[in-house]
Amino acid sequence: MLMIIFAWASILITTILTPKKYLWSFTTTQSFSVAFMSLIWFFYQDFTFSNQFFIIDNISAPLAMLTCWLFPLTMLASQSKLSLEPINRQRMYIANSTFLQLTTLLAFSTSDLMLFFIFFEASLIPTMIIITRWGAQERRLEAGMYLAFYTMLGAVPLMIWLIKFYATYDSLLPSLMQTMSIMQTNSNYPGLFWATYNMAFLIKLPMYCLHLWLPKAHVEAPIAGSMVLAGTLLKLGGYGILRTSVLIQNIMLNQTFPIMIIAILGILATALLCLRQTDLKSLIAMSSVSHMNLVVAATLISSPWSYSGAMIMMIAHGLTSSALFCLANTSYERTNTRTMITLRGTILIFPLAWSWWLIVAMYNIALPPSISFAGEFLIMASLFNWSPIAFLAVALNLIFTTAYTLYVLWATQRGPLPNHIKLLYPFNIREHTLLFLHVVPAVLLIAKPDLILF
Ligand SMILES: *[C@@H]1O[C@H](CO)[C@@H](O)[C@H](O)[C@H]1NC(C)=O
Repeated sequence: MLMIIFAWASILITTILTPKKYLWSFTTTQSFSVAFMSLIWFFYQDFTFSNQFFIIDNISAPLAMLTCWLFPLTMLASQSKLSLEPINRQRMYIANSTFLQLTTLLAFSTSDLMLFFIFFEASLIPTMIIITRWGAQERRLEAGMYLAFYTMLGAVPLMIWLIKFYATYDSLLPSLMQTMSIMQTNSNYPGLFWATYNMAFLIKLPMYCLHLWLPKAHVEAPIAGSMVLAGTLLKLGGYGILRTSVLIQNIMLNQTFPIMIIAILGILATALLCLRQTDLKSLIAMSSVSHMNLVVAATLISSPWSYSGAMIMMIAHGLTSSALFCLANTSYERTNTRTMITLRGTILIFPLAWSWWLIVAMYNIALPPSISFAGEFLIMASLFNWSPIAFLAVALNLIFTTAYTLYVLWATQRGPLPNHIKLLYPFNIREHTLLFLHVVPAVLLIAKPDLILF
């Protein structure tokens, strides 16, 4: 594991040393080779590995793999826009992305909870730098501020809990605690306790009502920021909940009932909100919130099936929403607008791009051959087991999701072809490769879903 960390860190050196002309080709190639190396390492280790520094098990391995897979894709996605900037800014950008990659990878793979907490919070710094330095509009500062304040708000209770835990048990290694069931924190108000110490994770996911920072951050971030935010940073929250779930007493669902209600309402409300968006990127951000609330609901049920469902959902959403942001970015780079109504009619001049849109939209509405279907299916099955009414509400979500996905397709692809669209330059190989590399893993995973089962 240390080897992988060093391999990723070596990209920093390449960034500094390569001449201007080869900067993007070198760093992209290197990140691809490091990503493949990491994947091979994960397979080689059989997804179970732990010592006092690192832990790779069935919770962290899939997410760490997703992190490794997405980094070269962010490099591919951001080069056309950034290569127009001054060379030093380009180097800074790559260095900051690599730094972000390192912190998230370490957060996923470190075994000590305090270190996890530190990297979890540290990932905020490069994210904020990327959003506020490379965002396109003035409001990026506001977005950065929202991001920082929301994260810090959640950090305090979590830190108190961790320190208290350490003071009581002298250890923060979950691998040790799993074997000792007596090491569970007891409290008189388990539901409230659950919500308070999970606040940091719920904000990161984000749960409905705590999600206001997300659409802002997504809309203002450059493409790599959006991809990493949707692909891996949101998953840090889900990972935190799953990881610490062994440490607290088994919560009864009637104690966390209000949170469950918020999550289920959040799934529906954000899916409906998507139907009212005019901005493509904020629509995708809203749909992320809707999907992540499914994860919150699943972790609240806390049965093996729902945990598996949450896990698969996170992986599937990481690939799907990252692909959606790439698609949004391809039209943004050509037209410099995110307003959907001005992007109409592109199916007539970009038929191949339409097929990418269609495939990714199918993933988003969880059509069977895709991996998101497995996740949604597991979550809905475990919800049905809990309460048929909750199941009905989430089934309604399927309809809303389909509705807004079709709305996106309709608004951005179909319709008459306006004159300003006719002059756009065609898709290039880089963009097709980028989308291909998003789409393929989601299909391949369905052939071997036990890779990402909990
Ligand atoms: C990130 O960018 C900032 C300013 O753009 C720079 O000062 C800093 O050194 C960069 N961080 C890394 C890790 O390169």
